[in-house]
Amino acid sequence: MSTTKHLIAPSVLAADFADLRKDIEMVNESEADWFHIDIMDGVFVPNISFGFPVMLAISKHAKKPLDVHLMIVDPDRYLKTCKDSGAAVITVHYEACTHLHRTLAGIKELGCKAGVALNPHTSVQLLKDVIRDIDLVCLMSVNPGFGGQKFIEQTYTKIRELRALAAGVNDNLHIEIDGGVTIANAAKLIRAGADVLVAGSFVFNSDTPLETIKELKAIDTSLQAV
Ligand code: DX5
Ligand code: ZN
Repeated sequence: MSTTKHLIAPSVLAADFADLRKDIEMVNESEADWFHIDIMDGVFVPNISFGFPVMLAISKHAKKPLDVHLMIVDPDRYLKTCKDSGAAVITVHYEACTHLHRTLAGIKELGCKAGVALNPHTSVQLLKDVIRDIDLVCLMSVNPGFGGQKFIEQTYTKIRELRALAAGVNDNLHIEIDGGVTIANAAKLIRAGADVLVAGSFVFNSDTPLETIKELKAIDTSLQAV
């Protein structure tokens, strides 16, 4: 298992959209590693967030990589636009891709890191034949579409299973957890094998978001075990 320090990716979905610049600057100043950008189409998920023009505007102020989570059907249509709007990591949903292997190759050809997100009901074993081709797996620990939902406990088992699946073939795989992450479950998630934590409402609803990010980042990974 990697001993690299885990990454924190605040989800802009929970930011103040009327004062986005202020929240972007906060993340710039913080110990966070990435911006997590949630793009929704109202078809793959029952909600619409914001699109690429907003993401492009964010990218002009963001001083950290944009980790883009595409909750949209047929994402191939938008990969180039996504890259041109500032993406460093592009994550597509397993459930939204008919030709996932081709989609991942397309993301890499653009020069981005390629991620695959799995809904809570989707088995990690379905990634067995593409695990070598993936830079990041985003395990959804809520049903995608909304911030502020309750964390699904089965996620810990999925993390362990996924680390086992990747062992020896993709030891640098990022395992990202998205949904319901707080200081109460962060250490346990890292111990199970996750190394990227997305946090939306926990960060942006905090009265002291810089401190909240610092606490998430300060979790002692030397306790990693199993
Ligand atoms: C949900 C999004 C998440 C969301 C997480 O569909 O993918 O990134 O912003 O929000 P919290 O941390 O509030 O559960
Ligand atoms: Zn997300």
